Amino acid sequence: MKLSIIGAGNVGATTAFIAALKSSELGIDEIVLVDIVEKIPQGKALDLNQCVTVFNLDVKIVGSNSYADTENSDVVVITAGLPRKPGMSRDDLIDKNAGIVKGVVENIMKFSDHPWIIIVTNPLDAMVYVASSCVLEKRGKDAADKVIGMAGTLDSARMRFFLAEELGEGKEAIEALTIGSHGDEMVPLMSSATANQKSLSKVMNDKKMKEIVDRTKKGGAEIVDLLGTSAYYAPAAAIVEIIEAIDTEKIVPVSVNYRGVFIGVPVKLSDGTVEIQQNMLDSMNSEEKKMFDDCIEKVKSLIDKTEEILKNK
Ligand code: APR
Repeated sequence: MKLSIIGAGNVGATTAFIAALKSSELGIDEIVLVDIVEKIPQGKALDLNQCVTVFNLDVKIVGSNSYADTENSDVVVITAGLPRKPGMSRDDLIDKNAGIVKGVVENIMKFSDHPWIIIVTNPLDAMVYVASSCVLEKRGKDAADKVIGMAGTLDSARMRFFLAEELGEGKEAIEALTIGSHGDEMVPLMSSATANQKSLSKVMNDKKMKEIVDRTKKGGAEIVDLLGTSAYYAPAAAIVEIIEAIDTEKIVPVSVNYRGVFIGVPVKLSDGTVEIQQNMLDSMNSEEKKMFDDCIEKVKSLIDKTEEILKNK
């Protein structure tokens, strides 16, 4: 598999690092890191090539400022764009990042026909819309269907961590999914979450569950406040989790076209198609359904705003 990562900053380079360490398991033989800034991707690639030599891994890492190096990629991850600073919401990035993501996708399309494209740049769901519309225009529906957004795998990991910590359980004992938008309106699915296969309502009181829902929703901001920039270790791992899920039966929450917007839903990624797990959405309780409907409305207005911004670019 050839993996290209656009944006060799914190999230992009950390994704390359984790993917390189898991390269034999994932069948990755080449990783290309592209950035607009000169020397940085080349420097990080050289460092990473020396890193994988320590473990004798047969993966080649290329750093570049040219999209020609991404030719025939199987998977492209887009992290190019600005991250949040303290006090900013993800939506505050829309103006700058919409143009960046559009330009990046146009360049990718010149060299790869039907890659999986995993969007990471925020505001996530609006950026998936930008990338998907661009691919639809240039390559048609089948290619556009392979544009997906990474958020739910990250938000779910945050939720699982908070639950495991609170319950004093191993992380593998906790199953939990977060869907909806990648923002304060996201929907951590408490009704179907389990600890050691037991429903959470049996092991945790309502107040605690509500606190964990709130902390999950603000999980990104908590790290921005501490670091002064947005998180990258867990986002990078959550990107690799999606790459790992491609062509397997594993269900992952990703942002895709659903009910006319782009929003996080549980899917399987097999044979180049996205299979939405509608049964899991149908099993939400009424409170979660309402939160999910609110998300759809919020993303709709964000997409309208994005369309306006793109018209003026
Ligand atoms: N083409 C290629 N690379 C670009 C472009 C572009 N047009 N514009 C910016 N970049 C690069 C920057 O040079 C930088 O190296 O994108 C990289 C972004 O890296 P960071 O600033 O470290 O940001 P990071 O924390 O990685 O976040 C990137 O992912 O999680 C989201 O909200 C986050 O939108 C942000 C994105």
